Amino acid sequence: TQIDAFDMVLFGGTGDLVMRKLLPALYHQHQEGNLPQEGRIVCLGRSVPDTAAYLNKAHALAVGYLGKHYNDADWATFAERIEYLHLDSNHPEEFTKLADALNAFPKRVRVFYLSTAPDLFAPISKSLSEVGLTAGNARVVLEKPLGHDLASSNKINDEVGEYFQEHQIYRIDHYLGKEPVQNLMALRFANTLLEPLWRREWIRDVQITVTEQVGVESRADFYDKTGALRDMVQNHLLQLLTIVAMEPPASIDADAVRDEKLKILRALKPLSTEDVHTKVVRGQYRAGAVDGKPVTGYLNEPDVPANSKTETFVALKAEIQTWRWAGVPFYLRTGKRLSERLAEIVINFRETPHSIYGRTASTPNRLVIQLQPAESVRLYMMAKEPGNQGRLRPVHLDMDFKEIFQTRSPEAYERLLLDVIRGDLSLFVRRDEQRAAWRWVEPIIDNWESSPDGPKPYTAGTWGPAASSALLSRDGLCWHEEA
Ligand code: BG6
Repeated sequence: TQIDAFDMVLFGGTGDLVMRKLLPALYHQHQEGNLPQEGRIVCLGRSVPDTAAYLNKAHALAVGYLGKHYNDADWATFAERIEYLHLDSNHPEEFTKLADALNAFPKRVRVFYLSTAPDLFAPISKSLSEVGLTAGNARVVLEKPLGHDLASSNKINDEVGEYFQEHQIYRIDHYLGKEPVQNLMALRFANTLLEPLWRREWIRDVQITVTEQVGVESRADFYDKTGALRDMVQNHLLQLLTIVAMEPPASIDADAVRDEKLKILRALKPLSTEDVHTKVVRGQYRAGAVDGKPVTGYLNEPDVPANSKTETFVALKAEIQTWRWAGVPFYLRTGKRLSERLAEIVINFRETPHSIYGRTASTPNRLVIQLQPAESVRLYMMAKEPGNQGRLRPVHLDMDFKEIFQTRSPEAYERLLLDVIRGDLSLFVRRDEQRAAWRWVEPIIDNWESSPDGPKPYTAGTWGPAASSALLSRDGLCWHEEA
């Protein structure tokens, strides 16, 4: 679809997300000719004085982040789109400056991207409304974390909702913008082959893994208050789960898709206190080595309190109470300072009901959708080895999207930013989805907070605490990499 003329306003313009992800995303789209001539990026911040200084900073960082895609000529034309306004979001009177800048082009789509702490979402929305900027085709993008529990997220949503209508609110979950996640939808809903098998009769278990090698880096201040459950599970992992489990929507229309995702979140079996003890594992990394390099433990990271109980790892077992999924465990796992950077969804099919190959073990079929580091779909099947031994062995059919399509695979934020300008909400989280996700994780938060126990230690560079493997072995299963 045609992209309309736009003004994209980035709050937190000098921050890490804007520099590392948002500007590079817009640069790529500019470079590929996907942005209209009339498309302006207005960056707001306090730490640099003017546009020249801002561009200096942005340029220095972009060269690094863009790597081989950087070139002087494209950057020069891209930079012409950027304007910087020195604005303190805590001072409502300063918003008239912004209104003056935007009102020069009253017809443009206006996007307000709030890349700030969530406690600023409401005051910023209010200030925007006071200077008349929330009406018409204005849209607001809210970055996670949206609150730290159900009550605080309700409060933020209520407050922002006073100034923006739900159809103007884009709650971003960048995992939904990842190409392989889109592809999972295509795989499920543009083919007939999988649908009859995509259910409890044929699927034994589902595993969703998002592991990282990085530690808490320089974000301890944020991370120690947050932890892996709120940082990754409540949003990214549960969103991936909905894409795997949802019923086929009637159309690709935003609300048709989000209605189906919501049903899954609401069908998640609530966790009792007993469940939190037996089906949820929380871990925290100790010193170890990642890729052969020694790394420090979480408690020794700068700005982390020595007695912190914040989890850097979560593994859990979820169940979906529907006819399609009853009895199929969904194992979710995420953590920092683990062995590999890996994001994948593994669908394990059931064993053959009867083996005609005697004692030759048969490995059940397995479909692996990898988001990171590769972007691929791999289907494991049994095949007979050549020769007269009659030996069978698992082999795989591969779809490697980079190889097949031979084009650069855009980063999640590229797609999502264009969707906001286009007014397409399909890949954004609706308020009721978010509420359902918080509601489901809330018993975990409550139980952890009131429990005298802390997280289980694991050595950096491993796959997490032993309890994570035990969670599956109790069900006679194992994680994909252990198979
Ligand atoms: C963010 C989390 O939402 O996702 C980070 O706040 C995490 O802690 C990141 O590192 C992972 O995203 P990606 O796209 O690098 O897998």
